[in-house]
Amino acid sequence: MKEYIKLLLANKAWAEEKIQEDDSYFVRMAEDQTPNYLWIGCSDSRVPANEVIGAEPGELFVHRNIANMVVHTDLNLLSVLQYAVEELKVKHIIVCGHYGCGGVRAALNHHNMGMLNKWLRNVKDVYRLYSGELEGIDNVELRLRRLIELNVKEQVINLSKTSIVQKAWKYHQRPHIHGWVYGLDDGILKTIYDLPPGSPVEPIYQYDDL
Ligand code: CO
Repeated sequence: MKEYIKLLLANKAWAEEKIQEDDSYFVRMAEDQTPNYLWIGCSDSRVPANEVIGAEPGELFVHRNIANMVVHTDLNLLSVLQYAVEELKVKHIIVCGHYGCGGVRAALNHHNMGMLNKWLRNVKDVYRLYSGELEGIDNVELRLRRLIELNVKEQVINLSKTSIVQKAWKYHQRPHIHGWVYGLDDGILKTIYDLPPGSPVEPIYQYDDL
Protein backbone atom coordinates (compact mmCIF):
# COMPACT_ATOMS: atom_id res chain seq x y z
CA MET A 1 0.00 0.00 0.00
CA LYS A 2 1.31 3.42 -0.88
CA GLU A 3 2.23 5.32 2.25
CA TYR A 4 -0.08 8.25 1.67
CA ILE A 5 -3.14 6.01 1.27
CA LYS A 6 -3.10 5.39 5.01
CA LEU A 7 -3.72 9.12 5.56
CA LEU A 8 -6.93 9.01 3.55
CA LEU A 9 -8.06 5.86 5.33
CA ALA A 10 -7.30 7.38 8.72
CA ASN A 11 -9.28 10.46 7.72
CA LYS A 12 -12.31 8.35 6.85
CA ALA A 13 -12.13 6.53 10.18
CA TRP A 14 -11.74 9.82 12.06
CA ALA A 15 -14.73 11.45 10.32
CA GLU A 16 -16.89 8.39 11.04
CA GLU A 17 -15.86 8.39 14.68
CA LYS A 18 -16.75 12.07 15.05
CA ILE A 19 -20.18 11.48 13.55
CA GLN A 20 -20.76 8.51 15.83
CA GLU A 21 -20.00 10.65 18.87
CA ASP A 22 -22.15 13.53 17.67
CA ASP A 23 -24.10 13.31 14.43
CA SER A 24 -24.29 17.10 14.01
CA TYR A 25 -20.53 17.58 14.55
CA PHE A 26 -19.64 18.62 11.00
CA VAL A 27 -22.85 20.57 10.55
CA ARG A 28 -21.78 22.76 13.48
CA MET A 29 -18.16 22.91 12.31
CA ALA A 30 -19.19 24.10 8.89
CA GLU A 31 -21.19 27.01 10.30
CA ASP A 32 -18.51 29.29 11.69
CA GLN A 33 -15.26 29.47 13.65
CA THR A 34 -14.91 31.36 16.93
CA PRO A 35 -11.43 30.50 18.23
CA ASN A 36 -10.16 32.34 21.32
CA TYR A 37 -6.52 31.73 20.53
CA LEU A 38 -4.01 32.48 17.81
CA TRP A 39 -1.09 30.06 17.86
CA ILE A 40 2.20 31.06 16.24
CA GLY A 41 4.44 28.01 16.34
CA CYS A 42 7.29 26.21 14.63
CA SER A 43 6.65 24.04 11.58
CA ASP A 44 8.40 21.16 13.36
CA SER A 45 6.32 17.98 12.98
CA ARG A 46 6.81 17.13 16.66
CA VAL A 47 4.94 20.18 17.97
CA PRO A 48 1.36 19.75 16.77
CA ALA A 49 -0.44 22.87 17.97
CA ASN A 50 -3.86 21.47 18.84
CA GLU A 51 -2.61 18.24 20.33
CA VAL A 52 -0.14 19.59 22.89
CA ILE A 53 -2.79 21.80 24.51
CA GLY A 54 -5.72 19.42 24.06
CA ALA A 55 -7.56 21.83 21.77
CA GLU A 56 -10.40 20.64 19.56
CA PRO A 57 -10.98 21.78 15.97
CA GLY A 58 -12.41 25.31 16.12
CA GLU A 59 -10.49 26.38 19.21
CA LEU A 60 -7.20 27.49 17.69
CA PHE A 61 -6.29 29.73 14.74
CA VAL A 62 -2.82 28.62 13.64
CA HIS A 63 0.22 30.05 11.88
CA ARG A 64 3.41 28.03 11.74
CA ASN A 65 6.79 28.72 10.19
CA ILE A 66 10.42 27.75 10.73
CA ALA A 67 11.48 28.83 14.24
CA ASN A 68 8.10 30.46 15.07
CA MET A 69 9.09 33.89 13.83
CA VAL A 70 7.15 37.17 13.80
CA VAL A 71 8.76 39.04 10.91
CA HIS A 72 7.33 42.48 10.26
CA THR A 73 7.56 42.13 6.46
CA ASP A 74 5.95 38.67 6.35
CA LEU A 75 2.62 39.22 4.60
CA ASN A 76 1.49 35.73 5.52
CA LEU A 77 2.02 36.23 9.26
CA LEU A 78 0.61 39.77 9.17
CA SER A 79 -2.52 38.65 7.33
CA VAL A 80 -3.08 35.87 9.86
CA LEU A 81 -2.49 38.32 12.71
CA GLN A 82 -4.83 40.97 11.36
CA TYR A 83 -7.59 38.48 10.66
CA ALA A 84 -7.22 36.82 14.06
CA VAL A 85 -7.20 40.09 16.00
CA GLU A 86 -9.66 42.21 14.02
CA GLU A 87 -12.16 39.66 12.68
CA LEU A 88 -11.94 36.65 14.98
CA LYS A 89 -11.22 38.92 17.97
CA VAL A 90 -8.93 36.41 19.66
CA LYS A 91 -8.28 37.01 23.35
CA HIS A 92 -4.86 35.38 23.42
CA ILE A 93 -1.88 35.01 21.12
CA ILE A 94 0.58 32.25 21.90
CA VAL A 95 4.08 32.27 20.44
CA CYS A 96 5.35 28.75 21.00
CA GLY A 97 8.96 27.74 20.46
CA HIS A 98 10.47 24.39 21.35
CA TYR A 99 13.74 23.10 22.70
CA GLY A 100 15.78 21.28 20.07
CA CYS A 101 14.52 23.62 17.33
CA GLY A 102 16.38 22.84 14.10
CA GLY A 103 15.74 26.32 12.74
CA VAL A 104 17.35 28.04 15.70
CA ARG A 105 20.18 25.50 15.66
CA ALA A 106 20.80 26.23 11.97
CA ALA A 107 20.93 29.96 12.70
CA LEU A 108 23.81 29.33 15.10
CA ASN A 109 26.02 27.84 12.38
CA HIS A 110 27.81 29.47 9.49
CA HIS A 111 26.69 27.36 6.55
CA ASN A 112 25.38 29.04 3.45
CA MET A 113 21.86 27.65 3.21
CA GLY A 114 20.70 29.64 0.22
CA MET A 115 17.32 31.24 0.57
CA LEU A 116 17.05 29.97 4.13
CA ASN A 117 19.83 32.41 5.04
CA LYS A 118 17.29 35.22 4.76
CA TRP A 119 14.83 33.62 7.13
CA LEU A 120 17.44 32.54 9.66
CA ARG A 121 18.94 36.04 9.60
CA ASN A 122 16.04 37.03 11.84
CA VAL A 123 17.20 34.51 14.44
CA LYS A 124 20.81 35.68 14.11
CA ASP A 125 19.56 39.21 14.86
CA VAL A 126 18.10 37.91 18.13
CA TYR A 127 21.47 36.32 18.90
CA ARG A 128 23.20 39.67 18.33
CA LEU A 129 20.79 41.42 20.74
CA TYR A 130 21.74 38.97 23.50
CA SER A 131 25.28 38.01 22.43
CA GLY A 132 26.72 39.08 25.81
CA GLU A 133 24.50 36.70 27.75
CA LEU A 134 24.69 33.89 25.18
CA GLU A 135 28.46 33.94 24.83
CA GLY A 136 28.72 33.64 28.61
CA ILE A 137 27.20 30.15 28.30
CA ASP A 138 30.00 27.70 27.44
CA ASN A 139 27.88 24.59 26.91
CA VAL A 140 26.68 24.68 23.32
CA GLU A 141 23.39 22.87 24.03
CA LEU A 142 22.56 25.18 26.94
CA ARG A 143 23.37 28.17 24.75
CA LEU A 144 20.96 26.85 22.13
CA ARG A 145 18.25 26.37 24.77
CA ARG A 146 18.68 29.95 25.94
CA LEU A 147 18.58 31.33 22.41
CA ILE A 148 15.35 29.39 21.82
CA GLU A 149 13.84 31.08 24.89
CA LEU A 150 15.12 34.53 23.96
CA ASN A 151 13.87 34.09 20.41
CA VAL A 152 10.35 33.44 21.72
CA LYS A 153 10.59 36.54 23.92
CA GLU A 154 11.65 38.69 20.95
CA GLN A 155 8.82 37.38 18.77
CA VAL A 156 6.33 38.31 21.51
CA ILE A 157 7.88 41.79 21.57
CA ASN A 158 7.71 41.92 17.76
CA LEU A 159 3.95 41.38 17.99
CA SER A 160 3.67 44.36 20.33
CA LYS A 161 5.45 46.53 17.77
CA THR A 162 2.66 46.05 15.21
CA SER A 163 -0.08 48.63 14.75
CA ILE A 164 -2.54 45.71 14.74
CA VAL A 165 -1.74 44.74 18.34
CA GLN A 166 -1.32 48.30 19.58
CA LYS A 167 -4.71 49.27 18.18
CA ALA A 168 -6.44 46.24 19.74
CA TRP A 169 -4.78 46.95 23.09
CA LYS A 170 -5.93 50.57 22.97
CA TYR A 171 -9.57 50.01 22.00
CA HIS A 172 -10.36 46.46 23.10
CA GLN A 173 -7.91 45.57 25.92
CA ARG A 174 -6.91 42.38 24.12
CA PRO A 175 -5.09 40.23 23.10
CA HIS A 176 -2.91 38.92 25.90
CA ILE A 177 0.36 37.69 24.34
CA HIS A 178 2.12 34.63 25.74
CA GLY A 179 5.59 33.28 24.99
CA TRP A 180 5.97 29.56 25.66
CA VAL A 181 8.61 26.94 24.99
CA TYR A 182 7.69 23.27 24.53
CA GLY A 183 9.92 20.44 25.71
CA LEU A 184 10.21 17.71 23.09
CA ASP A 185 11.51 15.35 25.77
CA ASP A 186 8.77 15.86 28.36
CA GLY A 187 5.84 17.38 26.46
CA ILE A 188 5.62 20.29 28.90
CA LEU A 189 5.05 23.95 28.01
CA LYS A 190 7.03 26.53 29.96
CA THR A 191 6.11 30.22 30.17
CA ILE A 192 9.01 32.38 29.05
CA TYR A 193 7.50 35.81 28.58
CA ASP A 194 4.14 37.43 28.92
CA LEU A 195 2.66 40.68 27.63
CA PRO A 196 -0.81 41.53 28.95
CA PRO A 197 -2.84 44.11 27.00
CA GLY A 198 -1.50 47.63 27.48
CA SER A 199 2.04 46.53 28.27
CA PRO A 200 4.68 49.19 27.63
CA VAL A 201 6.09 49.31 24.10
CA GLU A 202 9.46 50.92 23.48
CA PRO A 203 8.68 54.53 22.46
CA ILE A 204 10.26 54.34 19.00
CA TYR A 205 7.78 51.57 18.06
CA GLN A 206 4.67 53.34 19.37
CA TYR A 207 2.00 54.67 17.01
CA ASP A 208 0.27 57.76 18.38
CA ASP A 209 -2.50 58.09 15.78
CA LEU A 210 -4.23 54.71 15.97
CO1 CO B 1 11.55 24.35 15.38
